[in-house]
Amino acid sequence: MNTENQTSKVALVTGGSRGIGRSIALNAAKRGIGVILTYNTHAEEGESVVAEINRNGGKAVALKLDSAKVGSFAEFSEQLLQVLKNEWNRENFDYLVNNAGIAQRTRIQDTTEAIFDQLVTVNFKGVFFLTQTLIPLIVDGGHIINISSALARAVFPGVAVYGSLKAALEGLTRYFAREYADRKIRVNTVAPGAIDTEFGGGKGDENQRKQIAGMTALGRLGEAEDVGLFVASLLSDDSRFVNAQRIEVGGGSFF
Ligand SMILES: NC(=O)c1ccc[n+]([C@@H]2O[C@H](COP(=O)([O-])OP(=O)(O)OC[C@H]3O[C@@H](n4cnc5c(N)ncnc54)[C@H](OP(=O)(O)O)[C@@H]3O)[C@@H](O)[C@H]2O)c1
Repeated sequence: MNTENQTSKVALVTGGSRGIGRSIALNAAKRGIGVILTYNTHAEEGESVVAEINRNGGKAVALKLDSAKVGSFAEFSEQLLQVLKNEWNRENFDYLVNNAGIAQRTRIQDTTEAIFDQLVTVNFKGVFFLTQTLIPLIVDGGHIINISSALARAVFPGVAVYGSLKAALEGLTRYFAREYADRKIRVNTVAPGAIDTEFGGGKGDENQRKQIAGMTALGRLGEAEDVGLFVASLLSDDSRFVNAQRIEVGGGSFF
C-alpha cells in the first residue's frame, strides 16, 4: 500500500482481463484504488483478476464491454453507474484507462476494408465514443489515460493501420485535454514498447524476440508489469500537473 490516501478513488480499466490491462488493474488495486475492469471475450480471466484483487484486500468488479459496439455504450454507462452506487456508494469515478485494443498484422497491400474497419472501430472510434459517453461520470479533476503504442511513431511493415490509429489516439488525447480543461480533467497517453503479452498473436519465435530485445536500449522485451506499475503510479495526484502528454514505456525502444 502507498502512503497516499486513495481508498475512495475508483478506476475503470478497459481490457483489464488480460495482459497490460490486467497489470494496470492489479497495480491500481495495490495502491488502494477501487477497480472496475472490463472483459470482452474472456469473462473467466476478468473474474480471476477480480478474485485476485479481492483476495489481496482490494475491491474490484468486472463488466462486459465490447468496444466495437458503440451502440451498447449508453447501456454500459448505466451498468457502470449501478455498480458505482451499489459497491462504492458513489455516482461518479476518478480514473478512466482506455486500454482495450486489438492488432492485426497485414501489409498495406493485403489490408481489406473489413480488417481496416475492425481496427478503427476498436482502437479509435470505440475509445472516442466510450470516453464521450462516460465523461459525465468522471469527477472534475479526474484523469484519463489512453494506451497507445511505440508504433504510433516507429514505422514497421505490417502495422500501418494499427500504428496510424495509435498516432490518431495520441492526437485525440490532446483534444480531450483541451475540451475538458474547464473541468480540470487531465488526459494523457502512455505508449508501451514491445510488451510480452498475447497481443496480436504474441511476440513470435525466439529469433523475433531476440531481434526486438536488440532494438531496445534496456535489452529485453517489456512485461505487462512494466506498464501496469507505471500507469497505476501515473493515475494519482503525484502527476497532478502532467496533462496532454505522451509518455513512452518501452525501455528505450526503436529510437
Ligand atoms: N503488447 C504489446 O506489445 C503492446 C505494445 C504497445 C501497445 N499495446 C497496447 O496495449 C493495450 C493492451 O494490449 P495487451 O498487450 O494487454 O493485449 P492483450 O493481452 O491481447 O489484451 C487485450 C485486452 O483488450 C480486450 N479487448 C480486445 N478486444 C476488445 C473489444 N473489442 N472490446 C473490449 N475489449 C477488448 C481483451 O479482452 P478479452 O480478452 O476479454 O476479449 C483484453 O482484456 C492495447 O491497446 C495495445 O494496443 C500493446
